[in-house]
Amino acid sequence: MSHHFIDFRDVKYRYPDGTEALRGITFRITHGESVGIVGANGAGKSTLLLHMNGFLMPSSGAVTIGDVLLQKGTAQEIRKRVGVVFQYPDDQLFMPTVFDDVAFGPLNLGLDEQSVRERVEDALRTVSALQLRDKPPHHLSGGQKSAVAIASVLAMEPDILVMDEPAANLDPKARRRLIQLLKTFSHTKIVASHDLDLILDVCSRCIVIHEGVVAADGPAAEILSNKALLEGNNLELPLSLQRHQHEHEHEHCHGGETHAHPHGHEHEHPEGHDGAAGHVHGDAGKDPDHPHDDHEHGPHTHEH
Ligand SMILES: Nc1ncnc2c1ncn2[C@@H]1O[C@H](COP(=O)(O)OP(=O)(O)OP(=O)(O)O)[C@@H](O)[C@H]1O
Ligand SMILES: [Mg+2]
Repeated sequence: MSHHFIDFRDVKYRYPDGTEALRGITFRITHGESVGIVGANGAGKSTLLLHMNGFLMPSSGAVTIGDVLLQKGTAQEIRKRVGVVFQYPDDQLFMPTVFDDVAFGPLNLGLDEQSVRERVEDALRTVSALQLRDKPPHHLSGGQKSAVAIASVLAMEPDILVMDEPAANLDPKARRRLIQLLKTFSHTKIVASHDLDLILDVCSRCIVIHEGVVAADGPAAEILSNKALLEGNNLELPLSLQRHQHEHEHEHCHGGETHAHPHGHEHEHPEGHDGAAGHVHGDAGKDPDHPHDDHEHGPHTHEH
């Protein structure tokens, strides 16, 4: 039984046009971990993920998958164990039919026809796309393409599953199904996404990439509730963590003028409220330090 760890040691990557997309990335992901990769547009997430199956090779530093060092001669072997769903499904789908696309990987593994057929049908069924099997991929909708791209990787039954923005095109029901699927996948999984709720739901660890380096690496619940860290990376708190911060609404008096607006733990007032830039509140229901606990009792004044 091999150990499905992923090890990056000071990995740098420079694109042929000179862009330094990765500027020294180091981390180790061990067997069974679920890791979210987050960061601003252009931070280097996709570039990083493309190193996990040797689609890109480091300009310097080392990537090791299990006990295999990634280099030209080992990329093919690594691809059998690491399945990467690309950010753009058009990069993944190139065969005349959906069936052929999903069968491509298993055929390359040398499986017999019957096993290939079973794997293809299972994978397509898992993403609710079995009815698309005879269609040409370029006739599919964006979300259908994403589902098929995910199936083409599942059909390989990889030890390590890597997904780059897998939910970007999915409708809410398909997104929910994907989350369930990811939760039941017990092997190592790595998901890059701006969908921080998905990351929070699926991943126990989160790595923040900022301009080609690791800006933070720790428990997902901690990283994804760190507003300052997220905002410094063009991200926002997951919606599930925002909601209970904007739960209730009550009336305020500002300089004699009464109005109501949503009100919670933490929010900023738009400019023009007596010149106040922003403030922090406790939540009456949850925070004993809240300065007033009579929300329901009509207009009142409080400090800004
Ligand atoms: N083929 C390429 N040639 C040159 N530069 C590239 C290429 N692909 C990406 N880059 C650059 O590398 C940097 C990292 O890009 P990357 O696609 O890894 O970012 P990302 O974090 O995945 O962003 P997004 O959130 O938009 O998907 C960016 O500055 C980008 O412009
Ligand atoms: Mg990307």
